[in-house]
Amino acid sequence: MFEETEGRPSSAPLNEEAVIQRMLTQGRAGQVDEVPRPPRRGSVNAQFEEIFYENFVRYFQNAEARRRWSIDRDIPWDKTTDVASETTALIVESFSAVEMFLPDYTHRIMELVRRSRGRAWFQANWGYEESKHSMVLEEWLLRSGKRTEEQMRDFEASLLGAEWQLPFETARQMIVYTMIQELATGLNYTNLRRRAEEEGDPVLSRTLTWVSSDESAHYNFFRKGVKACLQLEPEETVADLKFVFDHFAMPAQALIPGWAERGEAIEAAGIYGPKMYLAKIRRPVLEDLGITRQQLKDAGMPAHEADEVADRSEQRAADARVARFHRTHSFPAGPAMPASAHRVRIA
Ligand SMILES: [Fe+2]
Ligand SMILES: [Fe+2]
Repeated sequence: MFEETEGRPSSAPLNEEAVIQRMLTQGRAGQVDEVPRPPRRGSVNAQFEEIFYENFVRYFQNAEARRRWSIDRDIPWDKTTDVASETTALIVESFSAVEMFLPDYTHRIMELVRRSRGRAWFQANWGYEESKHSMVLEEWLLRSGKRTEEQMRDFEASLLGAEWQLPFETARQMIVYTMIQELATGLNYTNLRRRAEEEGDPVLSRTLTWVSSDESAHYNFFRKGVKACLQLEPEETVADLKFVFDHFAMPAQALIPGWAERGEAIEAAGIYGPKMYLAKIRRPVLEDLGITRQQLKDAGMPAHEADEVADRSEQRAADARVARFHRTHSFPAGPAMPASAHRVRIA
């Protein structure tokens, strides 16, 4: 998918496992994930604020330097065709409908995080990036001839009556929620991009590449925030992970007319569905947080899965220790042995 860290994306071939792994690791390749620094001081709130603001500044600098894209300049609109299927158009329209609740997402979350500069300034940037998603998807629907101006207006009017409400009450639960939701959204778009490629639509494919690169960057900001919560308030955060994972639903779908049929089409097309949630979202996210065996279980991961994940990460840590040992210790070469000494003897 994307070769760079939260950077300008490439068009490497997609496979779902690779997509998830790339999304989980974006923002880390090429840069140190947790920058070593002296221990923070002050109240837990002050430490949170310091971490979130640092994370926001790094996010912003990276976005300005490598991830900004333009609807006019960076999509090859001159190659527009109508080859995409009606199912693809319906899915694009459905995703643009989810993005249309942006005013609710921005102002309700902003109210919740208003007192944190790191989170509030991030939210403002996030709103700008998300606003481009609904605009570019609508642009494709119109230019490809899949929808007329009038159809778009009628569809928008059908959405205007409803308002999205916060699905969880606290700022910590909401950062867990947005972490999960951004990964799931990114997976939706990368799977849809694969479909666009299969149908031979380079314009839609490029559009979805940009959109999913934004979603990956969003996921990474929230993921780092959840890691900070785990560091500073481990018990409460693990309890929130369990609660939010148990009650997770993608945003606004209940507000969109005809979502039952839209959801079925999305699942039948292999883009996203409830069955994918546990294996492709919950498990990889929990695994990626680097929490202990007991925390994995407390966060709701079934015991056998938690043991598997913890065994694997303990093995990785042990391998890394051995590799570090070999890098830092060099052994003087001994005297050359006679050739016969190398022969394996079978007694
Ligand atoms: Fe988005
Ligand atoms: Fe996003």
